[in-house]
Amino acid sequence: MADTTLGFGIVGCGLVSQFHGAAIVNSPKAELIAAADLDDERLSTFVESYGGERAESFEALLADERIDVVNILTPNAMHARFAVPALEAGKHVIVEKPPEMTLANTDEMIEAARRNDRKVAICLQVRMRESVRAIKAAIDGGRFGRLLEGDAYMKWFRPTDYYLMDDWRSKRDQGAGVTIQHAFHYIDLLHHLMGPVKRVDARMTNLAHPEVQLEDTLKAFLEFESGAEGLLEASTALWPGRPPRIEVNGEDGTAITEGEVILAWDFRDERPEDVQVLEIGRESEATGGTGATDLSYEEHMWVIEDMVDAIADDRDPFITAQDARHSLEIALAMYHSADTGQVVNLPLPEDARI
Ligand SMILES: NC(=O)c1ccc[n+]([C@@H]2O[C@H](COP(=O)([O-])OP(=O)(O)OC[C@H]3O[C@@H](n4cnc5c(N)ncnc54)[C@H](O)[C@@H]3O)[C@@H](O)[C@H]2O)c1
Repeated sequence: MADTTLGFGIVGCGLVSQFHGAAIVNSPKAELIAAADLDDERLSTFVESYGGERAESFEALLADERIDVVNILTPNAMHARFAVPALEAGKHVIVEKPPEMTLANTDEMIEAARRNDRKVAICLQVRMRESVRAIKAAIDGGRFGRLLEGDAYMKWFRPTDYYLMDDWRSKRDQGAGVTIQHAFHYIDLLHHLMGPVKRVDARMTNLAHPEVQLEDTLKAFLEFESGAEGLLEASTALWPGRPPRIEVNGEDGTAITEGEVILAWDFRDERPEDVQVLEIGRESEATGGTGATDLSYEEHMWVIEDMVDAIADDRDPFITAQDARHSLEIALAMYHSADTGQVVNLPLPEDARI
């Protein structure tokens, strides 16, 4: 753990920037230096709320030597175009999820990081949720035995206004739609907990947002390389929206969480510390179910502080771009499966796109 404080710059002062701003301001390991956005009003609101300077441009942000890490908070199809120059300028980067919209663009970021000996972390903060860490530790510790099933149920609600708020939010190739935009956290979580995926069978529908040409509902069956199976149901059509539910079953155990709350924690080898695990998250419920700002900045703070520690210790961040690339591959496979009505095998070709 580092005692260092590093300088942070922000590009993109939209909806998610409030969580990055609050996380940086509240972390002793991070100092907000400056922010950039094409939209003057959003930039002013951000700087007035969280401090830091108004950068005249993204290039000015990159030229600022006080900035060690740039957080890329632009729309989904605009991540590499900011991350690659930032890495070339010698900055480390935290990129919002998904890493990008294509594997090729993700690879460009990975390659730029390697070339410049810099670090990239992808902001998939749900992996750092305490309940998820407990399940991951139990899996890694062998308590589940052979994994059999990993499921995620994300029954959320977003009103039509959400999709019309910004131009990119209703365009599939820009990164809109429940699969790539909302369920991506839970695709990533199943990958993180259950391991790599080898086959996907998916269906997508629009249940409650006829004004936009997008899927608001996803159902997918997954086969993991380990032989385990999984289901993902994700929707933004289901009012009022509930915290997401994760279920993991192995030969020797079952764990079920809803948001941060652990509903079931049953293992053949019961241990005294299991009592504490059942207490996790009793007061924390902000997990995205009911609206786009139904989140806690603390999860973003973990990602930010992990980057500071990774730089100080010269190790990989907890969530690397290489690892998140496979989650993107799973999401792309789901779109291909839904579009063609076929079961899709991974790996996908590098140029696979939505
Ligand atoms: N980790 C999470 O839980 C989470 C939650 C919400 C959003 N996100 C991700 O964060 C990213 C941003 O989402 P959002 O909801 O904040 O989007 P948004 O549209 O609200 O904000 C994007 C901002 O980028 C700015 N921008 C666009 N082009 C720019 C350019 N050329 N130069 C400078 N600024 C530019 C826009 O003006 C806008 O203010 C997306 O990748 C999204 O998937 C992640």
